[in-house]
Amino acid sequence: MKTFHTEHTHAPETILDITMRDMRADDLPDVLTIERASFPTPWTEGMFLDEMRHPFCYDLVGIVEGRIVGYISFAIVFDEIHLRNIAVSEDRRRCGVASKLLLCMIEVSSQMGVRYGTLEVRESNKAALELYKRFGFVVKGARPYYYSDTGETALIMWADF
Ligand SMILES: CC(C)(COP(=O)(O)OP(=O)(O)OC[C@H]1O[C@@H](n2cnc3c(N)ncnc32)[C@H](O)[C@@H]1OP(=O)(O)O)[C@@H](O)C(=O)NCCC(=O)NCCS
Repeated sequence: MKTFHTEHTHAPETILDITMRDMRADDLPDVLTIERASFPTPWTEGMFLDEMRHPFCYDLVGIVEGRIVGYISFAIVFDEIHLRNIAVSEDRRRCGVASKLLLCMIEVSSQMGVRYGTLEVRESNKAALELYKRFGFVVKGARPYYYSDTGETALIMWADF
């Protein structure tokens, strides 16, 4: 699986004005700046490094004018994709960056024969909920107190691709 990942994303792919490529260790200072501004309990550097080493995990960055403006992390296991993380720099939100990252995820997924997508999202995260609905995800369940930092409920979303 990872072989395909490498082939697909090491040749930088430009979708409109955003270049997508694999996340690298030297991207982490920029990625962590976005991550820490985006989440109450941000992923650590070690978590991103573990993710990048994992054979089932895919981590892509979106670059505009030479700067990392967002990233996405997902895992593919058999015919299912799990969206694990996505964030966009605050000054680049509402410009379609997350949509491009999700499109890239779906493109990779379709080439891998993925049929289903799943993710968890905080109940209060209206921006993410709206974004995911646009991509065909629907709420299929809830996990109360899922997020230990705030005790918030996670909504479980599901998509049939
Ligand atoms: C959620 C997030 C990734 C969206 O990124 P983005 O690049 O701004 O999203 P896009 O510009 O591609 O938006 C696509 C659509 O999603 C919806 N959307 C995005 N942000 C929204 C907001 N703040 N309020 C309502 N709808 C929103 C809209 O339908 C939007 O289309 P429109 O702009 O034509 O109305 C971004 O707000 C972010 O990084 N948030 C912090 C991290 C986070 O919550 N990640 C998700 C964890 S589950």
